[in-house]
Amino acid sequence: GPPLRTLAEKHGLQVGAAVEPNLLLQDPEYAQVLAREFNLVVAENVMKWGALQTTRGQFNFAPADLLVEFAQKNHMAVRGHTLVWHQQLPRWVYGDFTPAEMEAILREHIQTVVGHFRGKIAYWDVANEVIGDDAELRPTPFEVLPDYLEKAFRYAHAADPGAKLFYNDYGAEGLGPKSDAIYALLKSLKDKGVPLDGVGFQAHLDLNFSPTAARMAENLERFAKLGLEIHITEMDVRLSGPGSKAERLQKQAQIYQEVLQVCLRQPRCKVFTLWGVSDAYSWRAASEPLIFDADYQPKPAYFALQRTL
Ligand code: XIL
Repeated sequence: GPPLRTLAEKHGLQVGAAVEPNLLLQDPEYAQVLAREFNLVVAENVMKWGALQTTRGQFNFAPADLLVEFAQKNHMAVRGHTLVWHQQLPRWVYGDFTPAEMEAILREHIQTVVGHFRGKIAYWDVANEVIGDDAELRPTPFEVLPDYLEKAFRYAHAADPGAKLFYNDYGAEGLGPKSDAIYALLKSLKDKGVPLDGVGFQAHLDLNFSPTAARMAENLERFAKLGLEIHITEMDVRLSGPGSKAERLQKQAQIYQEVLQVCLRQPRCKVFTLWGVSDAYSWRAASEPLIFDADYQPKPAYFALQRTL
């Protein structure tokens, strides 16, 4: 059948994958499958703070630029990931800074990075995983600066007014305390006039997801009513668990299908992104969470997405 990106186009949906640019150089089949099946890319690691500004004031854009060039050449959109996160930060950010110093650090990073890619990145994950599993704001070196979150969105908007700006998180696909806390946070940002365009649901899932899927549409709808665009940003489904391999592959396919259906039925859901291309390079490779196996053979999950689109 036709590739996923061709099928997705008729729904006005973008289908994406997380990419490591070094693999584009090392593995021609990786690059080929990526360009054939997907019309959006996101940097799995190379646009994180620790990768871009390992040393204060020195920016390394080469791997990220390679990814953006690949995307442009293959008519793919780019999601930027990510500007404010408590992980993969360089050590120097943990210094003892005053609020004014931290403000300068945050502003310079966002201006430089978002400015560098201005006009080339359709969506930025400005904020990633700011709410913890306890539904409270997470500790982060940025918190010395009051309103760091709001400021991050304003700096990003100033640096590229054309990019849509997102809050992204995991464990908030269904209804529950964490999703409630994110909803309250995003509503307060909207009420303050912060330039926030959308919310990303990561969807790092396992085979127990189906009961949550039943509530997911309801959850997405309340975010849609805030006027937010909705993206599925990092989907993968861990295969581990009881049952035969064949049964688990079917269950995995069903979960991919369920989440895609929820997205297709929600008019504001515009992007469906997987956290990698093949199981070979997944961050959770041992649990084979993606839609292509390590030999680039499509798994039942691939055919389920193809049928659903
Ligand atoms: C992960 C990458 O996949 C790994 O290669 C890296 O070692 C750690 O980060 N949520 C996110 C992503 O927002 O940035 C994370 O990516 C996965 C969880």
